[in-house]
Amino acid sequence: MSSTHALGFGIDIGGSGIKGAPVDLHKGRLAADRVRIPTPQPSTPEAVAETVGQILDEFDWRDSFGCTFPAVVQHGVTRTAANVDRAWIDCDAAAVLRRVTGRDALLVNDADAAGVAEAEFGAAADHHHGLVLVVTLGTGIGSALVNHGKLVPNTEFGHLEIDGFDAESRAADSAREREDLDWEEWGGRLQRYFTHVENLVWPDLIVVGGGVSKKFEKWSPHVRTRTQLVPAGLLNEAGIIGAALLAHG
Ligand code: BGC
Repeated sequence: MSSTHALGFGIDIGGSGIKGAPVDLHKGRLAADRVRIPTPQPSTPEAVAETVGQILDEFDWRDSFGCTFPAVVQHGVTRTAANVDRAWIDCDAAAVLRRVTGRDALLVNDADAAGVAEAEFGAAADHHHGLVLVVTLGTGIGSALVNHGKLVPNTEFGHLEIDGFDAESRAADSAREREDLDWEEWGGRLQRYFTHVENLVWPDLIVVGGGVSKKFEKWSPHVRTRTQLVPAGLLNEAGIIGAALLAHG
C-alpha cells in the first residue's frame, strides 16, 4: 500500500453518472474500485455537489480532491453547460462544492483532465517533448492540448464549425448512435473532423478517448490522418486520474 502522500482523489462528473475513486498519484491508476452514482436530475450544482459528497464519504476521504466537469471551467467557475443543467453557467462551482462537501475542490474540464492523465501515464506518456492533442468522443466532443507535458486548458475543439454545423453534433459518438451510422459512415464524419483539426493545430500525436476508443480497430481504418492517431490508454478512468493529478500534483 502506498503512503498517504501518494494518494489523491478524483471525481468525474458526467451527464449520466458521477464516478470517483482514490488515485495512486505515482502509478497513475485507481487505488480502489471506483464508485458510480447516477447524476441527479435535474443536475443542478447543489444536487450534483451532494452526490460528490456521498462518493467522498464512501471512501472516508476528508482531504481536497480533483473534479472534472463536462464544460468550460475557468478558475473554478463553470462557464458553459452543454449536457448538464443550465444553472451551472457562470456558477462558482468550486465554492458550491466546498460548501456542500466541506472539502476543497479543484475543478477542471473533463477532456482536459483526461488529457493530463493520458500525457502523464497513458497513450501519450512517451511524448513529453511534443504537442499532444487528446480528443474524447462521447455525448459531445471534448479536447485537450498538452504541450511538453503542460495543459493548455479549455480548447473546446468539439465546437468548431464545420460545413455549417457544430462539429460535435455530426461527429460525436452520440451522433453515430442517434443516426444509426455504420463504422464507415461515421468514419467519414471523423475524417472530415480530424482533417479540419489537423490543419489548425498540427500536433505530434492525437489520442482518441471516450467509450469508442475501445472499438478503435472498427472505425480507425476509415480515417486517414497525417498525425499518428492512437486510442486512449486509460479508457474511462482517465478523467478521475487526471483530476486527482491536477488537484494534488
Ligand atoms: C463541452 C466540452 C466537454 C465535451 C465532453 C462538450 O460539449 O463543450 O467542454 O469537454 O463536451 O464532455
